[in-house]
Amino acid sequence: MKILLVGSGGREHALAWLLAQSPSCRALYCAPGNAGIESCAEIVDIAAEDVDALVAYAKNNEINLVVVGPEAPLVKGLADALAAENILVFGPSAAAAQLEGSKGFMKDLCKKYNIPTAGYERFSDLEAAKAYIMQQTPPVVVKADGLAAGKGVIIAQNHDEAIEAAAEMLSGSSFGDAGAQIVIEEFLDGEELSYFALADGKTMLPLTSAQDHKRAFDGDEGPNTGGMGAYSPAHMMTPELEQKILSQIIEPTIDAMAKEGCPFTGVLFAGLMVVDGQPKLIEYNVRFGDPECQTLMVRFKGDLAAVLRACASGTLSEMDGQVGWSEEPSMCVVMATKGYPGSYPKNTPIKGIAATFDVQHLTVFHAGTAKDENGALVSTGGRVLGITATGKDLREAKGKCYRAVGLIDWPDGFCRSDIGWRALKAADEAA
Ligand code: AMP
Ligand code: GLY
Repeated sequence: MKILLVGSGGREHALAWLLAQSPSCRALYCAPGNAGIESCAEIVDIAAEDVDALVAYAKNNEINLVVVGPEAPLVKGLADALAAENILVFGPSAAAAQLEGSKGFMKDLCKKYNIPTAGYERFSDLEAAKAYIMQQTPPVVVKADGLAAGKGVIIAQNHDEAIEAAAEMLSGSSFGDAGAQIVIEEFLDGEELSYFALADGKTMLPLTSAQDHKRAFDGDEGPNTGGMGAYSPAHMMTPELEQKILSQIIEPTIDAMAKEGCPFTGVLFAGLMVVDGQPKLIEYNVRFGDPECQTLMVRFKGDLAAVLRACASGTLSEMDGQVGWSEEPSMCVVMATKGYPGSYPKNTPIKGIAATFDVQHLTVFHAGTAKDENGALVSTGGRVLGITATGKDLREAKGKCYRAVGLIDWPDGFCRSDIGWRALKAADEAA
């Protein structure tokens, strides 16, 4: 197959790295890519959200499969536009992408089909929202309905804070149109994990779990980010918990989406809270997580290109038994530009990546990099590198990641030093 991958982050570099190694992939292209993706795909200079240009490119270049990394082009209808031209696409239709694009849609689906999630109500009127907030026991969770770049969730510690958040969202001052509707929900107290499954509209293929680290600084302090590091599998995952996630959450969702007339194809990423051993759905994403994807790809065993094509063509049942996972756990430590998730400088020089090549089973995935006019590597984003390794246990994987961090010469970068701390603490306690 000739495959076009859409996106430019660390997730896409990990996908490109594995697709390029897939027996079913003959040629790989990536739009718009980054300086790391260059080493495994031909770069195409089209923005990830330029739906018309991507469709035209796929048509004119006889692309057999388009793999969409980020959510924004999916919510904009990229998969629908490609399907209209009979081009296979890995990623959901705009209607199915509402699972991520509208929190209210996701919550209403859960209510209708008895999928465990936090209790909630939807509002577009401030007075009604205020009355509901006053009936809740804090903390109260206030969410903008639409996409808000991962920032649309406020966990309010008291009623005043919740009302203020609701007022700001509904007035449009905090998230524009994404906040014109809000969801107010119950606070779930537990430990979070991410679970991933593929679907072709009717059939589901379970993948595996990971745990992200959303706060910027050690000890889960500081502002929320897109994710500062992850490891896979999540330490609290057991066969029993996985069974509950699949039978109570993922499978009913795939069935519900088909019944609602918007069958889900692509990867379903469930953000879950485990409360007393019971998984509850916090949110759905309709794409791989970043940096969770990096930790999944280095453990994946199989022909990724063939599996993603099966999702796109409705033949996932044929892939039964074709996907395996390394027994070795993996970790990804994100290096970000100092200042992230606030404002940060761009075009800062990064050296020393070649020195990491000696570290066994370690890959440096690029997330926000480019080459300057002299061909030297520079940063172009907040999250810039994803240092990813497997090891015989998580401690060994972590050791490799931080050895590589020490070899990278990037004065403007920082990372957390405690990725995987919950799993390592649990392992110490069990020992
Ligand atoms: P989201 O943007 O939906 O991923 O939410 C961001 C983060 O807010 C999640 O990763 C959770 O840590 C937290 N969160 C969201 N909803 C809830 C909830 N109902 N209870 C507790 N924490 C939540
Ligand atoms: N790392 C969380 C996400 O991709 O949404």
